Amino acid sequence: MLREIIKTKDGSDTILIPSQKITYHSIYGAVQESKHVFIEAGLNYFLENNKEHICPSIKIFEMGFGTGLNALLTLQEAIQHQHKIFYQTIELFPLNENEISLLSYNDIFFDDKYFHQLHHCDWEKDIAIYPLFIFHKIKNSFLNYSTNQLFNIIYYDAFAPEDQPELWTEEIFAKLFSMLLPKGVLVTYCSKGNVRRALLAAGFSVEKIPGPPHKREMIRARKLIGIR
Ligand SMILES: C[S@@+](CC[C@H](N)C(=O)[O-])C[C@H]1O[C@@H](n2cnc3c(N)ncnc32)[C@H](O)[C@@H]1O
Repeated sequence: MLREIIKTKDGSDTILIPSQKITYHSIYGAVQESKHVFIEAGLNYFLENNKEHICPSIKIFEMGFGTGLNALLTLQEAIQHQHKIFYQTIELFPLNENEISLLSYNDIFFDDKYFHQLHHCDWEKDIAIYPLFIFHKIKNSFLNYSTNQLFNIIYYDAFAPEDQPELWTEEIFAKLFSMLLPKGVLVTYCSKGNVRRALLAAGFSVEKIPGPPHKREMIRARKLIGIR
């Protein structure tokens, strides 16, 4: 599959799959979108709403490691705010060496050290990228994946429902619901009606919230079962 590195409008890189006209992030700004959808609406929202129950470690699951941008921004938060984070991510089509060498997120960290560690570390192992940030990459399809582990936050970053309808079904959301701890939060850039309905059918409480620039809305879904 041919993939190209392109610049988005905020100056940050993303990947384009020309044959399918799919990009890994918004063309209006990859970093801007990731910060808005996953860091602000996901991680920071969770922290803000769980101040009384600060867990020893915040457990995050990401669907689709891709460029590693969400992981890199989360690592930056862990370092700046001294959050202890366990970050697990799954990827079926990892980038190749050439693509990794052409991508750069130098605006996030001065050098590419952490970016390369995230991409080059072993799969299927817990790796301390930074003492407070334990990283675990799984090479598999999320469709075949199951786990007993429980997470506080899910970054749901699959390709859009038009491109990968099999990843936006009630069955998939039921699996994600079972992977969340009570009060857990799932965030995604998508705000489509059928996605909201599938999330509701799987048991989530669902809200539409403002999306990143050039996208009116996004979804935040929560696991409120058993919470008063
Ligand atoms: C929208 S991109 C997001 C990537 C990433 N979060 C980033 O910031 O670059 C979707 C990612 O999901 C991966 N993917 C597609 N189908 C998958 C599957 N069935 N299981 C796991 N990963 C998959 C793609 O290869 C791609 O890296």
